[in-house]
Amino acid sequence: MAINPADFDYISKIVREQCAIVLEKGKEYLVESRVMPLVHQEKLESIETLVRKIKSDPRGSLKDAVIEAMTTNETSFFRDIHPFETLKKVIIPELLEKRKLKKELNIWCGASSSGQEPYTLVMLLKNEFPQLNTWKLNFSASDISNQMLNRCKSGIYSQLEINRGLPAPLMVKYFERIGTEWQVKEELRKMIQFRIINLSERWPMMPQLDLVMMRNVLIYFDVEMKKDILGRIRKLLRPDGYLFLGAAETTLNLDENFERMPFKQSGCYRLKQG
Ligand SMILES: C[S@@+](CC[C@H](N)C(=O)[O-])C[C@H]1O[C@@H](n2cnc3c(N)ncnc32)[C@H](O)[C@@H]1O
Repeated sequence: MAINPADFDYISKIVREQCAIVLEKGKEYLVESRVMPLVHQEKLESIETLVRKIKSDPRGSLKDAVIEAMTTNETSFFRDIHPFETLKKVIIPELLEKRKLKKELNIWCGASSSGQEPYTLVMLLKNEFPQLNTWKLNFSASDISNQMLNRCKSGIYSQLEINRGLPAPLMVKYFERIGTEWQVKEELRKMIQFRIINLSERWPMMPQLDLVMMRNVLIYFDVEMKKDILGRIRKLLRPDGYLFLGAAETTLNLDENFERMPFKQSGCYRLKQG
């Protein structure tokens, strides 16, 4: 069932207003494939009926459900591997040395989807840097999606999700079996504060950050929104802190205060020094 141009425009408009995701012309197939399951679930006739219902009740839950459906939640444990190698070999050892007197690290994972990224990082910290046990670790992870946040908090993953990138020794060490699924052990789950943050709106107060993971989310926004978000990260990041972006993302031509670090395919940036 094809979406008509007016309904496509309307859905694009509410998605952009609510979460800054840009759906350009040509993405009709994407909207159709994401929204049709909702149409069936709600036992509606068509996308047209869905749009009519949202227009008649713009504050209702259907609108939120469309926004949820239009966010791309693709993620995996140790996604792209290189950033995590760089964190393990260079960035975390350097931060541990620099913060050894205060013994405090502040980390934010800004689009955590179903949680594989923050849990990867927390496993890496626990497994490779046991000295952190005596440190104060402020680790927050956020996403715009309620559904994703609930998944993060539960820390429950299917065998298929586990198979995508999680090394067996880490699974054995940090997960417990529940039925056919696997749950991150409580000691790790309680190390992360999960919360809703819409990157396109006001952010809550945060401490000065040592490390920001903002991977594979800027790609969905327009140039102005990317600039705005990078500018706000710049203010939150400590002068010697680090920012990680996704493989297809950059600060180039968006914020010249950042410089890319020369670590192979890591998407690692810091503020220009001096
Ligand atoms: C492709 S996932 C990236 C997950 C993870 N960072 C990674 O690289 O594997 C993008 C996430 O960004 C979230 N997102 C989209 N728009 C957002 C917004 N305006 N504010 C916060 N999160 C948003 C989506 O809900 C989704 O979970």
